[in-house]
Amino acid sequence: MDNKVYVFDTTLRDGEQVPGCQLNTEEKIELAKELEYLGVDIIEAGFPISSPADFKSVQEISKAVKEPTICGLSRAVEKDIQTAAEALVYAKHKRIHTGLGASDFHIKHKFKSTREQILEQAVRAVKLAKSFVEDVEFYAEDAGRADVVFLAKMVELVIGAGATVVNIPDTTGYCLPNEYGEKIKYLKENVKNIDKAIISVHCHNDLGLATANSIAGLMNGARQVECTINGIGERAGNTSLEEVVMVLKTHPYLNLHTNIHTQHLNPLSQIVSRTMRMPVQPNKAIVGANAFAHSSGIHQDGVLKNRENYEIIDPVEVGAGESKIVLTARSGRAALNFRLEKLGFNLSKEELNDTYERFLILADSKKNITDVDLEELVEKQLV
Ligand code: KIV
Ligand code: ZN
Repeated sequence: MDNKVYVFDTTLRDGEQVPGCQLNTEEKIELAKELEYLGVDIIEAGFPISSPADFKSVQEISKAVKEPTICGLSRAVEKDIQTAAEALVYAKHKRIHTGLGASDFHIKHKFKSTREQILEQAVRAVKLAKSFVEDVEFYAEDAGRADVVFLAKMVELVIGAGATVVNIPDTTGYCLPNEYGEKIKYLKENVKNIDKAIISVHCHNDLGLATANSIAGLMNGARQVECTINGIGERAGNTSLEEVVMVLKTHPYLNLHTNIHTQHLNPLSQIVSRTMRMPVQPNKAIVGANAFAHSSGIHQDGVLKNRENYEIIDPVEVGAGESKIVLTARSGRAALNFRLEKLGFNLSKEELNDTYERFLILADSKKNITDVDLEELVEKQLV
């Protein structure tokens, strides 16, 4: 089995659904170029039927970005699929992503339909999409809560109709990692024609499990992951691209790899955050401001002896610069000395002890100890 994991970035579609984060066409083109530079395999550029501006964005991205496949979303509806095909006309590599609900809940309460009718609609949609493009991805919405036997039937039929990728979304972020992994395994083992398509994982983060679920899916045979920069997306967000990529890189025995240039992860996280006007939480894995910052004395001492005592990723590898030693009232002498040496002060043991006593008093009253504070502390000591 091929061990390459295709990275399908949906920052510009599912990610952009975050209230207040809507992008204009120029912003979308800029981000699409950055995603190309990052090395993603597929960019979901938008949902062309949703608005004239989104149609234009997909069209312009198709002209501007040539390396990755450009994908347009559609419902399993004729007009949507035709519009997606039109928006993608200029794309060098193009994909239509179409689909509909697979859970009984969605079938009954959203589509007011029956399992049989839903299967017919799914097959019709894939055949229509296939008449426009070779590469057709089918999504079985709410697959996380769907009956797996019915899901397997749906997947078999859409592959028979020409789907090249089958997306198994945990739309509501409901599954536990073992359940989601089992679902992918079941499809792999029970759908007769499964080898004719790639299984894709698309997880939402309502219970904070999107990354864990995506990894479970990949470990059980999926070979495409749908994700967003900074994990942005509807409600609690989508799977975070940087997390999945670094999980795979940090655990080489999984024998799964992506084409992502990891040094661009932090720069791109900041670009996306600025462009979408959406701050990144400081404790966010890989790209948060504190992801490589050490503030307690015990950790600082360990990191200064050997970075790997407390870091499993070299920050340089993800474009985060060097590890940070942050001074707080919990910091120790080793950290204080390290920061003072960086400022050019070489204190004797006694001088350091004295400065440290005064540093603690200041740090108890002040959250953030700056270089200027340190200079003042030492200068008082030296007069
Ligand atoms: O979460 C979901 O099910 C989706 C589909 C449209 C792929 O975003
Ligand atoms: Zn989604």
